[in-house]
Amino acid sequence: MKHFTSIQDVANPNDLIAPALEIKKTPYSTSQLGMHKTLGLIFFNSSLRTRLSTQKAAQNLGMDVIVMNVSSDGWALEMEDGTVMNGNTAEHIKEAAAVMGQYCDILGVRTFAGLKDRKYDYEEVILNKFKQYANCPILSLESATLHPLQSLADMVTIQELKPNNKSVKSWTRPKVVLTWAPHPKALPQAVANSFCEWITKQDVEFVLTHPENYELAESFSGNAKIEYNQNKAFENADFIYAKNWSSYHNYGQVLSNDESWMITKEKMSFTNNAKFMHCLPVRRNVVVSDDVIDSNNSIVIQQAGNRVFAAQAVLKELLKSIEKNGQ
Ligand code: CP
Repeated sequence: MKHFTSIQDVANPNDLIAPALEIKKTPYSTSQLGMHKTLGLIFFNSSLRTRLSTQKAAQNLGMDVIVMNVSSDGWALEMEDGTVMNGNTAEHIKEAAAVMGQYCDILGVRTFAGLKDRKYDYEEVILNKFKQYANCPILSLESATLHPLQSLADMVTIQELKPNNKSVKSWTRPKVVLTWAPHPKALPQAVANSFCEWITKQDVEFVLTHPENYELAESFSGNAKIEYNQNKAFENADFIYAKNWSSYHNYGQVLSNDESWMITKEKMSFTNNAKFMHCLPVRRNVVVSDDVIDSNNSIVIQQAGNRVFAAQAVLKELLKSIEKNGQ
């Protein structure tokens, strides 16, 4: 695995899911693997979970970690080639990424969608510039269109909570629902896109539910079944994954704030006693009611905890690939 920026970088997702669950049992079993290797974590946007879990994962492998909030601490970066840099930007991404690559063996990058220009966002301009110029493996910490570290942790969590009881049919092939939920701000589609990419590779019944005009890019949602009636989608579900996203087709717009899409106890009553999932951060009583997120069926904390083991499984593969290539 050369980079980890989407599921396309992974030959077989199960080769990361099963190892992540093994790592959870013995997180320090390879604590020398990353000795004298440095992970750079470069943030263009805010983070709690991704920053802390990836740092902890790297430390469990014996790596050194450098963190930089590039938007607040670095020089203003120019992304366009051939620009006369006589405006606000002080450093070109060509030098910045190349220099970061001199200090780090792996570079993690968080760069959200601007939600103004769909073509620019969906071309993953910034992430690809890092791939082009850093000369080291690039780890996505959530890009404009995808959040693969989150999705891997989500798959690990579903796998972990799916009882290995062949007599319970629904649990051996659980029904997983990704539901849009209201939010006052325009949010990227990255978590939803990425979840679709990963869950459609699992042996589950997957249903996507959202208001009309919130369809995701087909390049990510593929042939996923869409059910516009949220109550119907929830019927017999084993996992409810809630997330807001802004419109892809009316790019970046908030087309609905329909409160009836909030995940409530009543909605959850249509399910098969489903587990409630969300990537966090979450707005309580907007996306999900207190009585759902605080219930025993809410697994959001376990899900966030699994971010460490997902990141560790990925870093382990990237380190092995560096070792193999003699870097
Ligand atoms: N889920 C997630 O990526 O959380 P942060 O934005 O806090 O990193």
